[in-house]
Amino acid sequence: MLKLTAIETSRQAVWAARQKGQQSGLVPTMGALHEGHYSLIREARARCDFVAVSVFVNPAQFGPNEDITAYPRTEAADLAACESLGVDLVFVPAVESIFPPNTLTNVVVSGLTERLCGLRRPGHFTGVATVVAKLFHILPTDVAFFGEKDYQQLQIVKRMVRDLDIPIDIVACPTIREPDGLAMSSRNVLLSTDERQRAASLSHALFRTRDRVLGGERDVATLTAAIRDEIKAAGPFDVDYVEIVDDQSLEPLTTIDRSARICLAARIGTVHLIDNIGVDVPPTG
Ligand code: PAF
Repeated sequence: MLKLTAIETSRQAVWAARQKGQQSGLVPTMGALHEGHYSLIREARARCDFVAVSVFVNPAQFGPNEDITAYPRTEAADLAACESLGVDLVFVPAVESIFPPNTLTNVVVSGLTERLCGLRRPGHFTGVATVVAKLFHILPTDVAFFGEKDYQQLQIVKRMVRDLDIPIDIVACPTIREPDGLAMSSRNVLLSTDERQRAASLSHALFRTRDRVLGGERDVATLTAAIRDEIKAAGPFDVDYVEIVDDQSLEPLTTIDRSARICLAARIGTVHLIDNIGVDVPPTG
């Protein structure tokens, strides 16, 4: 396994694989790898001959009130995991090589970035889209793998690729959950024991709501009020949002009459957690 920090040698490694006719895949990450990332890497390994993983804690996606230094960093363990999963190249760049002084260009995906988490984290998704666009140019693979856990991010990346004609296929991979249902996230390690137990109520509320929709309830106000009540009953949470949106445009729905995504974000203590679940209903009318 190659571990590279330089942009040019990393790009050449991907091109060398492509010139040999190998199918190449990228799993972009911010490190602190867990089972969720492993599932993306396994999917990449299953579909591609050459697998690259990037590990870069992107300062551009942290707001002024968000503590980037608190983001977990586990580089030695990440490299060992990549090695054991059969990764070919791990790209671990320095901040200054990705964002040299005087960087003036950003990728702004309007509309989609202004909903859900984008409302509470202004600039976050511009930071994500900019770094992902850069990674796609530095590591020009055929395919890139993203988790549905970050559903808004996934839709934004897909839209950016479409709008900018970036020649890469985006593969969406299902959310991986702990046995009690909590969506796997690098931030989960920051939860206290009590917070960790209560955090499972987020996914329980989502599963129950999906069952209610499948059972016939279509009114979004009724469904989201029940989710808020259920979360509240589990103890102190700061709920950022609970929304049911069109699964492509992310526009809020009032009635579930098409494929929808039930999305929520909440803070327990200082830890920001997000989760979502899809629900397909036959179109009405
Ligand atoms: O999902 C993440 O870990 C990050 O947002 C990503 C896609 C690696 C960009 O920094």
